[in-house]
Amino acid sequence: MKNGNEFIVVQASDPHIADTDYVRNVDVLKNLEIVCSDIQLLDPGLVIFTGDISDDGSVLSYKNFQQLIKRLLPNSQVIYGNHDDKNTFKQYLETLTLGAFYNVPFSTWSFVFLDTVLPGSIEGYVSEVELQRVLKVCDTLKDRKICLVSHHHLYPVGTLAIDKYITTNGTEVLNALDFVKVHISGHVHNSYHSTYKNIELFSAPSMAFQFKKNSNGIELERNIGYNIYKIVNNHLTHLTRWINT
Ligand SMILES: [Fe+2]
Repeated sequence: MKNGNEFIVVQASDPHIADTDYVRNVDVLKNLEIVCSDIQLLDPGLVIFTGDISDDGSVLSYKNFQQLIKRLLPNSQVIYGNHDDKNTFKQYLETLTLGAFYNVPFSTWSFVFLDTVLPGSIEGYVSEVELQRVLKVCDTLKDRKICLVSHHHLYPVGTLAIDKYITTNGTEVLNALDFVKVHISGHVHNSYHSTYKNIELFSAPSMAFQFKKNSNGIELERNIGYNIYKIVNNHLTHLTRWINT
């Protein structure tokens, strides 16, 4: 909390660390440290990592992540992505795992986690059981503004190569949850902002490498960044921070 009525939430995503330093010729562990050090300077009230913590699901990747986060950003919560090994993730990051919801202190905002990971698939899918669970959670937060948090995007970002791997029933999910104010996701490895109905949709850049926007294939870009959401007087504003490496 910076002052009485301002709260900063950072969304960092897709660090893709592994049991080797380099993934796709990028020193991902070094990039993770650069981004986390940059976030630390903001002194955020909450940092949410939106999945693909690990690229290979290795024990070492989660151990390295856990150590770094404990040291630099203890106010962190994590969710898993399609690259994560769910069991190893839980084993090492259990204490950081975003529970059913997080209420932002002194505000009417709540962050609610939606599981979009379909084991064995790159694309996302929300099961009926998961949708009903989230509807129930939201029912207990009736008077609050809800920011839905998931790994996969629910609505096309407009880059064909990325939209192939969208949450396949994402639009139906948004229709069922059309009372939420904001949805934030990772997975797309770039910064996007759009709206669907009255819902603002934000995707955060990767902490490791980006996928070029508007490309028909997967083209890598080497910049890194993260999203900042400032909540002031119950009003949420968004900013993407880019860091050149
Ligand atoms: Fe990813």
